[in-house]
Amino acid sequence: MGTEWNLKNPYLTTISEKDVLNGPGATKETRHVSILLGDSGLTYRAGDAIGIIPENPKDIVEKLIELLGFNPSQEVESHSGKVTLYNALKKDYEIHRLNKKFVKALPGLLSDDSGSLIEIQLVKSERNNVTKNTSDSWELSTDGDLPANYPIQSKNNPSAKAEIITKDNDAIEDYIWSRDYIDALQDFPSLNFDTPEDFLSQLDKIKGRLYSIASSPDAHPGEVQLTIAIVRYNHHNRDRAGLCTGYLADDVEVGKTKFGVYMSPTKSFLLPDDGSTNIIMVGPGTGIAPFRAFIEQREIDKSTGKNWLFFGDQHEATEYYYKSQIKGWLDNGVLHDFTTAWSRDQAEKIYVQNRMLEHGKEIWEWINDGAYFYVCGDKNYMAKDVHAALIQICSEYGGMNSDEATEYVTQTLMKEEKRYLRDVY
Ligand SMILES: Cc1cc2nc3c(=O)[nH]c(=O)nc-3n(C[C@H](O)[C@H](O)[C@H](O)COP(=O)(O)OP(=O)(O)OC[C@H]3O[C@@H](n4cnc5c(N)ncnc54)[C@H](O)[C@@H]3O)c2cc1C
Ligand SMILES: NC(=O)c1ccc[n+]([C@@H]2O[C@H](COP(=O)([O-])OP(=O)(O)OC[C@H]3O[C@@H](n4cnc5c(N)ncnc54)[C@H](OP(=O)(O)O)[C@@H]3O)[C@@H](O)[C@H]2O)c1
Repeated sequence: MGTEWNLKNPYLTTISEKDVLNGPGATKETRHVSILLGDSGLTYRAGDAIGIIPENPKDIVEKLIELLGFNPSQEVESHSGKVTLYNALKKDYEIHRLNKKFVKALPGLLSDDSGSLIEIQLVKSERNNVTKNTSDSWELSTDGDLPANYPIQSKNNPSAKAEIITKDNDAIEDYIWSRDYIDALQDFPSLNFDTPEDFLSQLDKIKGRLYSIASSPDAHPGEVQLTIAIVRYNHHNRDRAGLCTGYLADDVEVGKTKFGVYMSPTKSFLLPDDGSTNIIMVGPGTGIAPFRAFIEQREIDKSTGKNWLFFGDQHEATEYYYKSQIKGWLDNGVLHDFTTAWSRDQAEKIYVQNRMLEHGKEIWEWINDGAYFYVCGDKNYMAKDVHAALIQICSEYGGMNSDEATEYVTQTLMKEEKRYLRDVY
């Protein structure tokens, strides 16, 4: 049921809520988004993820077409078939950030006119004022800066600028980091495309974004709930947003806007088959998402295994997501332990791995007793630090040296027993 829906053939649906989870005064924006599964037949398990296909913001599409100098209603050949240029740029291609292929091709894309401009440069000047009998002279040095009284102050040569930007990988990454195609067209007014297709051929196809599902299908039938950190930043005096998170937060209207979704089932990030198994879950920030689903599921299944959640974010006052639900679980005993790390509520940072180390003895006892250990959230920093903390705990309390503890965590727990599971991104 529902298996016909996929990335290429997504189910079109709407949302029923997108509430901000942060309290007043927060510096970040995290939303609880509910997607309606309607008549799709789509099913999922706690631990699965869902894919969302975003669209580009209307104002960015319009500005881009204006700068390109084409007609938005013009029919073009896109990978989705024959569509208007407006629709191709709204739905089919990523335009919110330059791609590497485009930046690498920049020197060649600049129109021939700019490349073949003849540059005339004055190298020496001497002017005599006959009435005052004074003289004003200068000679161009080779060290770069133009003399203050040089007749033309602009050193702006598009070809030279493009060469600098594409000098090496770091320069390309630097240019891409804060710019989209609007910035590039404004930086290089001589950038010219004969046809819309010439421009489209430089772009990447729009990609779906995955989100760990934050709900149990049994607790919320017909819905998929998500915990989404909205990506926002400002570069070159323009407010910008992540493509999918900006789309959901700013453009998708509750109950109205239709967009495509598809399921992305997990292979292994699942609850233990045996409900009496204890589980430890480490999920700071949006990493809490699948653990809300796990706990909801264990509550409904009346699983007897104990549940221990490590959660953290910037401030308790503004980032304590799902507070009343968590309090309810602590009251009714579904959540055996809840350990928090509010990173910015004191002078020094406190992270989930610091809390793990404080509870090292207990964590080792749970693991040694057969508990599953789950991690979800940031891959680049948090998951690595939590991994190191787990090894340290196994070494300290499990009587292993550091090599043995590493082997135990990465081989025994992860690969052989498959009870150290990660959903990191
Ligand atoms: C299996 C899986 C599960 C996931 N689950 C969740 C989840 O539950 N919740 C969640 O919120 N996310 C989750 N993600 C991440 C999610 O898929 C998206 O990557 C994320 O929401 C950003 O998407 P976007 O389209 O809004 O941003 P994009 O447009 O794709 O941009 C994101 C990129 O913007 C860049 N960026 C960030 N800040 C700046 C800045 N200041 N200047 C310039 N560039 C910047 C970063 O390089 C980042 O990679 C998950 C990812 C995976 C793979
Ligand atoms: N692939 C992606 O696109 C991706 C993936 C994950 C996160 N992000 C970005 O991260 C932003 C927010 O994500 P999020 O809300 O899930 O939270 P987050 O940024 O991961 O932060 C959650 C908590 O983790 C803390 N933290 C920072 N470094 C840590 C470390 N090394 N070890 C343990 N904890 C650490 C943070 O503290 P401090 O902030 O106080 O240091 C905060 O308290 C999003 O806007 C998104 O751009 C992007």
